[in-house]
Amino acid sequence: MADRHAITVAFRLPEEAEAAFQAAFDTTFLEGALPDDLAALEGAEALIVTPPIQVKVDVVKALPSSIRAVGTYSVGMDHLDVPAIKASGRAALFTPDVLTDAVADTAILLMLGATRRATESINLIRSGDWGGWHSRQLIGQGLAGKTFGVFGMGRIGLAAAVRARAFGMTIAYHNRRRLAPDVEDGARHIADADAFLAETDVLLLASPLTPDTHHFLNDRRIAMMRPTAVVLNVGRGDIIDDNALIPALQGGRIYAAGLDVLAGEPAFDLRYLNLPNVFMLPHIGSSTVETRVAMTEALIAGLKDVFAGRTPENAIP
Ligand code: DGY
Repeated sequence: MADRHAITVAFRLPEEAEAAFQAAFDTTFLEGALPDDLAALEGAEALIVTPPIQVKVDVVKALPSSIRAVGTYSVGMDHLDVPAIKASGRAALFTPDVLTDAVADTAILLMLGATRRATESINLIRSGDWGGWHSRQLIGQGLAGKTFGVFGMGRIGLAAAVRARAFGMTIAYHNRRRLAPDVEDGARHIADADAFLAETDVLLLASPLTPDTHHFLNDRRIAMMRPTAVVLNVGRGDIIDDNALIPALQGGRIYAAGLDVLAGEPAFDLRYLNLPNVFMLPHIGSSTVETRVAMTEALIAGLKDVFAGRTPENAIP
C-alpha cells in the first residue's frame, strides 16, 4: 500500500512479532546485519536494530535521509551513538519496561544455576555416569539470609530484588545516587563501592555499559569480595574484566558466576567453558514470546508517534 510507512528491521523475530511489524508498516527484515552499502536502506523511514548491530557515528552519517528514526529492540543502548543519532535529526527509540520481568527472571535463573552448581549437575547427569544420590554430592549454597547486592539498581535491578526477597535475602545496592525510599523498598544503599562489594553475597551486575561501568568488576574490586560470593551479570559483558574474574573463579577467590552476557559475544573468552563453577546462558535475558511481542508493540507505538509528529514514550532520554 502506497500510504504505508516503510521500515527496515535488521534482524529476524519470532513469527508473531514479525507479523505485528508487517501489520503496522511495510516492513523489510534483514538477516542480522546492516548492508555494506547503507544506501540500500533508501526508502525506509525507520531502522530497527538490536545489540549486536552497531549504529555508531560512521553508520549514522551514512544512513539515507529517508530514515527518520533509529530504534533498538533492547533496553541496552551501548551499541548506539545516541547523541549522533539525535544530532542527525532522527528520533532514537528503545524498549524499556516491557522486558524487565523477563530479564529479572533470568537473573534468578543465573543465581540458582550458580549457587546450586547447575553446570556440574547437568554435566553429571548427562554423562551417564551418575552413581546415585549421595549426601556429599554437589553441595551448593543456600540463599536465605544472604545479601543480594545490585550494582545498577534500575528497573531490572529492582525487579530482581523483588524476586530475591522471596528467597529470604536482604537487598543492598550501589548506585551513584540513592533512590527515593518508596522506590528502594527497604533496600540498603551503600554509597561506597568497596563496602558494597565486601557486604554482598550475590552480586547482580545490572547497570548499563558506559565508560564509568566498563570493567567495574576488576582485580582490585574482586579482592574486596568474599570468597563465597557469587557474581551474576545481566547487564553487559564488558562490565566485568574477564582477566580478573576468570582467575578468581579458577583460584576459588570467587565461588561461582552466572553470566547471561559476555564480553565480545558471541566470541566470548573460551576459558569460561573450562570452569565448572560458571553457569552461562547465551544472552537470553529477554527471550520470552510475551516479551518479544511486547517489545515489538513498544517500537510500533513509538514509530507511529514519530511518523505522526509526536514524542514517543519510549524515546531514548
Ligand atoms: C537488552 O535489552 O539490552 C537485553 O540485553 C537484550 O539484548
